[in-house]
Amino acid sequence: MKRLGKALVIIFIAVAIIAGAALSYIKLALPDLGDAPNLKVEITPARVERGKYLANNVTVCIDCHSTRDWTKFAGPIESDSEGAGGERFDKKVGFPGEVYVPNITPYHLKDWTDGELFRVITTGVKKDGSAVFPIMPYKYYGQMDKEDIYSIIAYIRTLPEKETRVPERKLDFPLNFLVNTMPSKAELKTRPSENNKLAYGAYLVNASVSY
Ligand code: HEC
Repeated sequence: MKRLGKALVIIFIAVAIIAGAALSYIKLALPDLGDAPNLKVEITPARVERGKYLANNVTVCIDCHSTRDWTKFAGPIESDSEGAGGERFDKKVGFPGEVYVPNITPYHLKDWTDGELFRVITTGVKKDGSAVFPIMPYKYYGQMDKEDIYSIIAYIRTLPEKETRVPERKLDFPLNFLVNTMPSKAELKTRPSENNKLAYGAYLVNASVSY
């Protein structure tokens, strides 16, 4: 009996050590997608125009990253809040924790390089190396054409500054660990010609997936 007790204690300690090591690995070493690319996006009128179209009508960055008037049908964007962030997902909407939508105007992003923006949009890895909770559909953005991502970056760099900050997110266990396993490498595609209606339509549908 004594032996069995001892064996159980050893097994318990071994399992605790393995679980601890696995959780530390997930928390500290993941996501592991490498450095942000070294790139400089030139802001041209054509890119800003294309980025404006995509961010407002296709990838709907601005829908999420603005405050919304939920008393009205479909929750239109509150005037003058474009890019200011501030919406919150929490237990009231069945969310396992609290996630706030950050400001994406230059006020908040001026210290981010273009490469860091490219990496967060296409893989979900933030400037500090942590993972974005996939409310933001970065896996779909990671299948877009890099030129379209450059256009979105050019456009959000031109948004009027909004001086807002959001609180730190809090995720419940085990999501606070699992979130780090979610980012994956981008699989960028070439944008089909607009004359190829089927392929171009499929490209836009992928880019507009949002939940
Ligand atoms: C469905 C909502 C949604 C959409 C659409 C969306 N985002 Fe996000 N985004 C979020 C949320 C929520 C976070 C923060 C998640 C977290 O903290 O884990 C975030 C994080 C970010 C961040 C990181 C900011 C920081 O401080 O860490 C950037 C930059 C960003 N989004 C830009 C964009 C761009 C550009 C697009 C469009 C291509 C976009 N987002 C589309 C919800 C969205």
